[in-house]
Amino acid sequence: MNKKIDLLNEKKASALAGGGEKRIASQHAKKKLTARERLNFLLDEGSFEEIGMLVIHRSTDFGMEKEQYPGDGVITGYGTIHKRLVYVFAQDFTVFGGSLSETHAEKICKIMDLALKNGAPIIGLNDSGGARIQEGVVSLGGYADIFYRNTMASGVIPQLSVIMGPCAGGAVYSPAITDFVLMVENSSYMFVTGPNVVKTVTHEEVTSEELGGATAHATKSGVTHFACPNELAAINDVKKLLSYIPQNCEEQTPAVAYQSPTTNKSRLNDFLPDNNSQPYDIRDIISEVLDENSFFEVHKDFAQNLVVGFARLAGKSIGIVANQPMVLAGVLDIHASTKGARFVRFCDCFNIPLLVFEDVPGFLPGTDQEWNAIITNGAKLLYAFCEATVPRITVITRKAYGGAYDVMNSKHIGADMNYAWPSAEIAVMGAKGAAEIIFKKEISSAENPNDKWLEKEKEYSDIFANPYRAAERGFVDEVIEPSETRNKLIKAFSMLTNKVVHNPRKKHGNIPL
Ligand code: HXC
Repeated sequence: MNKKIDLLNEKKASALAGGGEKRIASQHAKKKLTARERLNFLLDEGSFEEIGMLVIHRSTDFGMEKEQYPGDGVITGYGTIHKRLVYVFAQDFTVFGGSLSETHAEKICKIMDLALKNGAPIIGLNDSGGARIQEGVVSLGGYADIFYRNTMASGVIPQLSVIMGPCAGGAVYSPAITDFVLMVENSSYMFVTGPNVVKTVTHEEVTSEELGGATAHATKSGVTHFACPNELAAINDVKKLLSYIPQNCEEQTPAVAYQSPTTNKSRLNDFLPDNNSQPYDIRDIISEVLDENSFFEVHKDFAQNLVVGFARLAGKSIGIVANQPMVLAGVLDIHASTKGARFVRFCDCFNIPLLVFEDVPGFLPGTDQEWNAIITNGAKLLYAFCEATVPRITVITRKAYGGAYDVMNSKHIGADMNYAWPSAEIAVMGAKGAAEIIFKKEISSAENPNDKWLEKEKEYSDIFANPYRAAERGFVDEVIEPSETRNKLIKAFSMLTNKVVHNPRKKHGNIPL
């Protein structure tokens, strides 16, 4: 028996050695951790149980039968994060560059199947040269098997992708389907075609980092939700993110022990600037209203005119969607709409109630927006709110103009409670523009057109630039002092705890993609 146990230990040692010392040193020289080191940091100490440690590839071309590494370039298994079950795979760049073989893909699929059957999140740590070049089409099939599972698991269990090295070609589509993508700055990249192909086809000269690094995807494309300064920061963000999210779509949101804050919330009454065109940072209001230091912003460098993220209210997870008056006056544009829509849908999938702070002057005008389909893209946000069945509350702090009023979780599209501050302006459009249109003749024929315009602007503003017309109709449930906001929200979300809404039975809706 001892000899048999020795053989087992020998095989395990071989798996633990990955691609060998030299390749591990080269990984460290690039300021990258190995797959096993990453898992050690990610999972609760001693919780990792590996599955498929001894799997080897079946390839025999190009002398591959002589190059065998138990585990075949990916470490798979389960463990816990903050004592909650998670399934994980970590690609090992020291073995064939973490490239995906038939067996490597089978290992990932096995873990995904277990995660789906048992209702727990799956986290992928990606660091791979792509399809195993020596294997050809079986590798492509392996990718497709993963994409299919990503799609089937979508909305059932949370799926997180952390990109910690190369992720190129079709391989990018697995992370793209998952709920959140995190990238490490300066050591990871994602692109469908790399700099060489780009140069040949479009004659553009661009580095990998410029084309598909964390910063590019966090700011320009929005492909990544988080750009993390290093691998440990990315791992910490994964842990933090999971703390707001239930294990699966059947569970309620997690709550943490909560103590009433000691800060004086009444200072919100003096928060808004006197001039209604002056910007302010909506995150200051979020911090005041939600539990102290609980706001965790998602997609923070992308479409900054809309702020989204998780927070806690009296200890319970809440999804926040808020116009940001500091950027483009908080206007809705294409990127803000798609960013918001994806976040709203994530929260709705996983029973996370939604809180909207609204201060929106409308949709962004211009040929760029129209020709790039602000109509279709704006409709995504509208659709996402309309179909969301989680508890939904809106607080209108200032402007709620035009179609954007409807879109931003208005009562008409299913919000449960809508509050407005006395500073709210709920109207078809701003008073200046409105006066120019409806009093055009009076203004142009006046002795002093400018004075007339100002007079009519004031007249329109007095009638419409307030929350009372909407409150009289019941479109706003209550006009509240800003300082009351937190208490009102705690009570209202508590009142909505058992909300049940069933949308009409259907195969699936047809969101305007
Ligand atoms: C097999 C691979 C590999 C691959 C890297 N390696 N990529 N082995 N298949 N796809 C191996 C290398 O041979 C090397 O082995 C080790 O991994 C490290 O690679 P290096 O090149 O030394 O590392 P580095 O300089 O850091 O460059 C990393 C890299 C480069 C940029 C990823 O290796 C590279 O360009 N690889 C090929 C990428 C690619 O074209 N993949 C296929 C894309 S098509 P040794 O033995 O020396 O350690 C695709 C389609 C997916 O993925 C479609 C899905 C639908």
